[in-house]
Amino acid sequence: MLPSQFPRHLWPLSIHFSRQRLFLGGRDVAELGRELKTPLYIYDAATIDHAIAAYRRGLRAWPGRGLITYASKAWLSLPLARFLARRGLGLDVVSPAELAIGLRGGFDADLLHVHGNNKSFALLQQAIDAGVGAIVVDNLHELGLLERMTPVAPVTLWLRVNPDLLAPTHVYRQTGHHGSKFGMPREEALLAARRIAASPHLRLTGLHVHIGSQIFDLAPIADSVDRLIELAVRIEKAGWGKIKALSPGGGLGFPYHPDDPAIPLHKLTTDLCAHAADSWRRQHGGPYPTLILEPGRSLIARSGVALYTVGAIRRLSDGGRIIAVDGGMNDNIRPALYGARYTASLARAPLGDAVGPARIVGPLCESGDFLIEVVDLPDVKSGDVLAIPVSGAYQLSMANNYNGMLRPAVFLHDHGRLIPMQRRETIDDLMRRDIFDAN
Ligand code: LLP
Repeated sequence: MLPSQFPRHLWPLSIHFSRQRLFLGGRDVAELGRELKTPLYIYDAATIDHAIAAYRRGLRAWPGRGLITYASKAWLSLPLARFLARRGLGLDVVSPAELAIGLRGGFDADLLHVHGNNKSFALLQQAIDAGVGAIVVDNLHELGLLERMTPVAPVTLWLRVNPDLLAPTHVYRQTGHHGSKFGMPREEALLAARRIAASPHLRLTGLHVHIGSQIFDLAPIADSVDRLIELAVRIEKAGWGKIKALSPGGGLGFPYHPDDPAIPLHKLTTDLCAHAADSWRRQHGGPYPTLILEPGRSLIARSGVALYTVGAIRRLSDGGRIIAVDGGMNDNIRPALYGARYTASLARAPLGDAVGPARIVGPLCESGDFLIEVVDLPDVKSGDVLAIPVSGAYQLSMANNYNGMLRPAVFLHDHGRLIPMQRRETIDDLMRRDIFDAN
């Protein structure tokens, strides 16, 4: 592979290659894998900052105030929460645990937004007690729970609207179409707005839409923003609330594979914000509300690299190879769940000549346990370290313990320093919840 063919845009900014070796912040990646043990995830701070900067640049096309809230479902830990809180981001949470980690990680409660399509009474109570910035009401059942609560101070609500639009992405990631479990159809949202206006302790201040994830074509997101603003106008005309917060959700696509579209993030964010500004001016014309962008994947995916060690190699009669590594669908279920396509690099020869296609599989008892269906690689030997880029989003957060596999250790690379973020799971961790009297 020629250096010009190395898919630089898929790798963290701190990755370099020279002398036929892959480096992260000046450290030999193959050695890192051996020293720190694999499977191992490393996040690169500079790459997260780069993505935040792309979002801030996009928000310059919005004439009002802007806020980036990180969709914590992409991956959350206390150190990552602190890292993002210090940079002034908000946080989207959907569970009591995400809420608690966000708060302990250092987010101000008013920068937390609570999402989810079936919020429990306990979650709503926890959110109100903490004083979160907004609870994003998904349906009339949740609204009923909120109406029956007796908070000491008024509760700020947004409505999640289902705009009846199909996002061009995997069917499991579509969330804005008719029949989706997420969000209120527009007529229902109007009903909810009327009920909130009649409640002594609830305030409607925002509208939210999120039509899906891993979307490269902005057109349907732009349509969803138009429909949201149209609804804002109707709600305000009826006197049911003043829309001070407008959120087109997250969902911007990020490439995983050299064949995926590589649209610069700042272009997507700028086009989206410019469209929203134009739509608000045309349909509403009043002062601009705060625009809340809610990225998960596009903020964090590129910063993460997964390292694995090669074990068994099976050579097939057609010249192909099945290369087994020490992680699989336990730490990355995305290939099995969505047919997600990744690429990989041999850490000791990132520019080495490929000798043919290989399938990268894990050690689990499932034929669906694969990380990469097909990738061209040089001659790989047992003990080699393989690096898979774009591993920062929805891998560790969807990790599981199938076959008793332990969750990997996670490090942050911050300008030359490697800082542990999460230790590797232990066998004791797995047995901790078992209720068992040894006698
Ligand atoms: N806001 C809401 C309300 C969401 O539900 C999501 C993602 C986001 C924002 C962030 O979307 P993003 O910017 O990350 O696309 N597990 C799937 C992705 C599921 C996304 C769920 N919701 C995957 O691995 O592709």
